[in-house]
Formats: sequence, structure tokens, C-alpha cells
Amino acid sequence: MSETSQLLAAIADTGRDPVRGGYSRPVFAAAERELLDWYVAELDRRGLGAETDRNGVVWAWWNPAGVPLQDTVVTGSHLDSVPGGGAFDGPLGVASALRAVDLLRERGVVPARPLGLAVFPEEEGSRFGVACLGSRLLTGAITPERALGLTDPDGNTFADVARAAGLDPAGFGRDDEALARVGTFVELHVEQGRGLVDLGAPVAVAGSVIGHGRWRFTVHGQGNHAGTTLLEDRRDPLLAAARVVVAAREVAAAHPGTRATVGRLQPVPGGTNVIASRVDLWLDVRHPEDAVTAAVVAEVSRRAVELAAAEGCTVQVREESLSPTVAFDAGLARRLSGVLPTAPRLDTGAGHDAGVLAGRVPSAMLFTRNPTGVSHSPEEFCTDDDAELGSVALADVLQDLLG
Ligand code: GLV
Ligand code: MN
Ligand code: MN
Ligand code: MN
Repeated sequence: MSETSQLLAAIADTGRDPVRGGYSRPVFAAAERELLDWYVAELDRRGLGAETDRNGVVWAWWNPAGVPLQDTVVTGSHLDSVPGGGAFDGPLGVASALRAVDLLRERGVVPARPLGLAVFPEEEGSRFGVACLGSRLLTGAITPERALGLTDPDGNTFADVARAAGLDPAGFGRDDEALARVGTFVELHVEQGRGLVDLGAPVAVAGSVIGHGRWRFTVHGQGNHAGTTLLEDRRDPLLAAARVVVAAREVAAAHPGTRATVGRLQPVPGGTNVIASRVDLWLDVRHPEDAVTAAVVAEVSRRAVELAAAEGCTVQVREESLSPTVAFDAGLARRLSGVLPTAPRLDTGAGHDAGVLAGRVPSAMLFTRNPTGVSHSPEEFCTDDDAELGSVALADVLQDLLG
């Protein structure tokens, strides 16, 4: 087994989800904290101390020259997962960062500039609804007031959960001092589609992250009895919500290149013999052109109002997050391509902390091939060989950037 795979093997049993399959590692919950303990122990073994900043980002520095932390090169990813996710989304980038340090040391590299490692909390937004919450707080892309009030599915606020994890809610927010240390950021991530399979290559350099957002539709109807309520007397918000799901697919199909998804839908109170009184559904829309994303959401929202009214229901639509399309720093991407001349350039439909950081510091990404082309699923995969090739590519890139 390659060294990169060995690192991942140590956490292969942490956060397995026996009900959904795969892994459920929500931010600040036990499994994600266990992964963080593993990560800190791995840093320790390398003589690298971990420090958690006021937004919960965990940093470590390899700084053999002992120079001030400025104009550094930083790499890293995340350890939280979606519900029932794969083993590689996040942890592959973290393991590759550790392996890259080992490779550089094996090569006898003694960097003149500090190399940083970073792990960001709540990249998936699967617990508090807003993806890349740690990097958004760090960069000021979300206000601390809004972040602290976000709630998880059990009604716990981000403030309370973060406090229980040892963070001070008063400290959250844009941290220019922490960011000023970062000269360049490079995130390695498992590819989340089949781009590299189609191209027959193990590693790609990222071109852009396509724009994406999340909207919450709340449909209000009338809760009632499944047996006594005649069909003509019903105001069933779940029926209206089901039609909104279909409308989202239809509107997306009319705008080529759009990805529109409803992956979460919550009827309240949620009983087999109960007509729901309210349904929340979450719509995820992505398109390379931000204007198309906006047009699709406007059209789905308009149709939702009509579909709800036809069932005697009402609907409210709220934007939960919106990230425009991000083109990574062209000069930096060219530099990575110079180091990895056989690596193709690939755009991605998945969101990443590197996409958020790109607004403040030159950022880049590497993708490692996923032979199934499937992600956010237990089927996500990366072969032993490719995992190591990705780490070697990352080490090559870091060596060049540090030189
Ligand atoms: C996270 O991986 C996302 O793209 O939603
Ligand atoms: Mn990820
Ligand atoms: Mn993900
Ligand atoms: Mn992601």
C-alpha cells in the first residue's frame, strides 16, 4: 500500500455510517473531531505543531528557516463530510498534504519560505447549511453574525456547537492577519466527476469552480389526518414540494449546462399517517454563467408560487448561500501546468475552500482521478497508485512554489 493510502487507512473506520453507508462526519461532531486528533498526531510525528485560529481553521507550519510567516505557500483541505459521503472528499487532500511534506523531506528540500498546512471546518455545509463556512468566515465572505445564528438539523446554533468545540464565538470573523501569511494556496482534492477518467489522466490542474448557490423553499399547507381528509379538502405542502422538484429539473433542462438538485426535503411533522403542515426543501443550482443560475432560480421560484397556490399552499424562498464562478489565478495555474506538463486543465462543478480563498490570495487546485466518477456517495474512490501520484504531483508543485 502506498504511503498516502496508509495515511487514509488509519481513519478508514472513523465516522462510518451504518444506515446511509459511507461516512458521516459532520463538522464539530465526534467523528470529525477524531479525524482532527489523528491529523494533529500526524503533524506531531513530523514535528509540526498545530494551531487553531479564531475561525476554527487548523494551521501548521514547516518553517526550517525560521523566517516570519509571510508570503508562505499553504496546502490543505477539509475533514468534514456530507451525510453518507465517500472516504476521499477532503481527507485525500489532507493526507496528500502530509505525504507531500514527507516527500519534500525525503528529497532533501529545505524550504526558504514557510510551508503551511491548513484544515478548514464545515467545507460541505452539511451541518449548518452554508458550504465553506470556515474559509468564508476567514475571508469575510460571510458575517460572523449570520454564521453564528445558523442552526444544524437538531436546532443547535453554530455558536453553541463551536463553543462546545472549544472556540470562542466572539472571535469569529474576517482575519486579515491570518490571511496575510498566505502567499499562495494550493488544494488537492479527489475529482468529483468523471473528467479525469474521460481524459485518461491521473491528475489535473483546476481551471475554475463553477458558480453555485443554495436556496431554501418553505411550503406551508395544512397538517391533517391521512384517513379522514378527502383529497379535495387537502392543502398538502408535500405534493406542492414534489411538483417543485420536477419543475427544478424542467427549468434546468431548458438552460443547458445547469445542474439543479433537490437532495434534502423535510416534511413537518413527518408521520406516515399525517398530511404535512410544512415542507422545507433545499435547491442547489450551479452553472458556469452566474446570470443563468440567477435566471433558473427566479424561474423555479416563480413556478413554485404557482404550484403551491394550486394546492392551496404558500411558499417562501430564501437564499442560503451564493458563490459566483471563480477562475483560478491564471499565472499560478500556468505555473502548475509547467511543473505537471501532462496534467490536463479541468473545471469543476464542486465547491471548494480554494474557490473562496481565491478571492483574497492566489489559489490553485489539483484533482486526483476518481475511477467511479461518483462523489458525495460511498462509491467515490481513488486507487492506491493514483492517491500516491497525486501526492507526488502536489510535492512537485509545492517544491516549485517554495523554490
Ligand atoms: C461540496 O463539495 C459541494 O460542491 O457542494
Ligand atoms: Mn470537498
Ligand atoms: Mn464535498
Ligand atoms: Mn466541496
